[in-house]
Amino acid sequence: MTRRMENRIVLVTGAASGIGKATADLFEVEGAIVIRTDIASGNHRKLDVASALEWQHLVDSFEHDRIDVVVNNAGISPHDNIENLDMATWDTIRSVVLDGVMLGCQYTLPLLQNSASGAIVNVSSVAGMIGASEYLSYGAAKAGVRNITKSIALHCARMRYNVRCNSIHPGSIDTPILDADKAQFGEEKTIRVRAETIPMGRLGRAEEVASAILFLASDDASFITGAELVVDGGFTAR
Ligand SMILES: NC(=O)c1ccc[n+]([C@@H]2O[C@H](COP(=O)([O-])OP(=O)(O)OC[C@H]3O[C@@H](n4cnc5c(N)ncnc54)[C@H](O)[C@@H]3O)[C@@H](O)[C@H]2O)c1
Repeated sequence: MTRRMENRIVLVTGAASGIGKATADLFEVEGAIVIRTDIASGNHRKLDVASALEWQHLVDSFEHDRIDVVVNNAGISPHDNIENLDMATWDTIRSVVLDGVMLGCQYTLPLLQNSASGAIVNVSSVAGMIGASEYLSYGAAKAGVRNITKSIALHCARMRYNVRCNSIHPGSIDTPILDADKAQFGEEKTIRVRAETIPMGRLGRAEEVASAILFLASDDASFITGAELVVDGGFTAR
């Protein structure tokens, strides 16, 4: 069977863990040459998505003349609400979650234009579509990701670039991003409380989000741009 990413050059941010790691692994199985980046040190290229300077360095030193797929996945999700919010937290979350995606799109677009089938997949969240009292800054930034995805898709279409741009909206997925909650409330309670809010009665797996990202990045989605795909076990269907 033909692999869906054969020889495609794929850049994944936040690839050291969770959804990013599962995506990088799946794309490799599908034949891609994957450039794994993360702010954390380890077996991948160092990239703080919030730093324009680091993006510039990455594209300046890039060893290929094109990128076929960019998965803007890196993120953090501390809690805050309208009463306990402080500006430093707001700025930090915005810079990683929203600025990080915008910079990822901006700096890689020239390389994506060299692809015969370029695709950007931005990882937003269901929190970018509906309110969540304890995710004020995060939800605002993820809503921004949802919106800029559509503006970038329209720009690329108008310019007749072969670059599509779509967003993925995971619900509760069991990844290390929940570690802080597990430490605070206990693993069993964190999982149970979340699972009770999900129509399918369980949390999602990183691999289930990776499959949806692969679909949007692949030629199976060749006429899909500016779209949003929820991967949430029915959470937003009610
Ligand atoms: N897990 C969920 O329930 C869930 C739900 C909705 C959306 N998401 C989104 O999915 C994406 C991946 O999250 P995850 O659940 O795999 O979490 P995770 O914590 O397992 O992985 C996030 C990765 O991003 C990296 N990262 C953090 N800040 C960075 C920065 N400034 N630059 C580069 N890398 C950075 C981390 O080092 C980590 O490897 C995030 O954007 C998150 O907001 C997750």
